[in-house]
Amino acid sequence: MRTNYLKIDTQADRQNIEAAAVILKNGGLVAIPTETVYGLAANALDGKAVAKIFEAKGRPQDNPLIVHIAAFKELEALVTEVPPEAVKLAEAFWPGPLTIVLPKSSAVPPEVSAGLDTVAVRMPSHPVALRIIQAAGVPLAAPSANTSGSPSPTSAQHVLSDLDGKIDAVVDGGWCAVGVESTVLSLTGETPRILRPGGITPDQVKAVIGAVDIDPAVFSSLQDDEKPMSPGLKYKHYAPKAKVVLLKGSLAAFADYAAAHAKAGTMAMCFNGEESAIPVPAVSYGAKDNAAEQAEKLFGALREADQAGAGLVLVRCPRTEGIGLAVFNRLLRAAAFEVVEL
Ligand code: TXA
Ligand code: MG
Repeated sequence: MRTNYLKIDTQADRQNIEAAAVILKNGGLVAIPTETVYGLAANALDGKAVAKIFEAKGRPQDNPLIVHIAAFKELEALVTEVPPEAVKLAEAFWPGPLTIVLPKSSAVPPEVSAGLDTVAVRMPSHPVALRIIQAAGVPLAAPSANTSGSPSPTSAQHVLSDLDGKIDAVVDGGWCAVGVESTVLSLTGETPRILRPGGITPDQVKAVIGAVDIDPAVFSSLQDDEKPMSPGLKYKHYAPKAKVVLLKGSLAAFADYAAAHAKAGTMAMCFNGEESAIPVPAVSYGAKDNAAEQAEKLFGALREADQAGAGLVLVRCPRTEGIGLAVFNRLLRAAAFEVVEL
């Protein structure tokens, strides 16, 4: 298959939006930009189209997809009931990086929900994503547009390096401002629960609906027989090909550890300006005190380490406040939950 490259240069670029919409209406796969990461989209109401997403990504069949909408009223057809919390959250955070899990309606094919009786829905804020959903005239199911298990894509080039030849088109809408995926919040239990930390912080959610739980799977790996509420949490994720080790402690201690583990293929991911203090090749993923910048640069830095042929990537541990929790969670998973205290 030849993957079409559709670049969107200006808001007025209707032709490529239309081209993407036609492919989607015909049951094809199009990678689209969102404010979080690029998504691999298909018509969410067409089970056959959705099944192709799993094939292109090599995604486990039991990991459900997020449905993307362009207007709040589109939510009604996808779920059995819209609770007042969902209305408040949508008013506060949509369009934006919050995904809400609710009991699904029969309009949602089992391919989307991977057999669960719930569906995850969000309204992205990237203008190109919104225009493509509108032009397609249907909600779009879209996981991150990477090969399953590898770091999520934050540019059209990242998408092509994973999926060229496996999807019908990629729409280039530039970089992704948030850089980590959306916050997944379940409203199906007694207390709202964050299943995956992301672009909207726990405090932001709390400020709107009060008490919120954070699923234990955010911080620790599951036992073999445990069944997570969010099936995606079961898999090792966001990982480059290299082994990743997350190191907690001072820069000086990090530099010592790097010196002790330095060999061909050892690399570091550090904060801005720390490169020269570290005795192995280092890429920065943002300023130490700027979690938003770390989020934006995280996946690109992990991919850069892969491209440089790293075998071992030592990573400076981020703070966990605000969006830092999402950055920490992704790194924790890339490191298979191993944190070394220096
Ligand atoms: O920012 C994002 O969320 C990006 C962009 C493209 O929108 N999408 C994304 O999709 O990250 P994906 O498939 O890579 O991650 C979706 C996560 C998975 O952990 C999945 O298990 C969970 O959401 N999820 C989807 N449907 C669910 C459901 N019904 N119940 C619980 N978790 C669900
Ligand atoms: Mg993903």
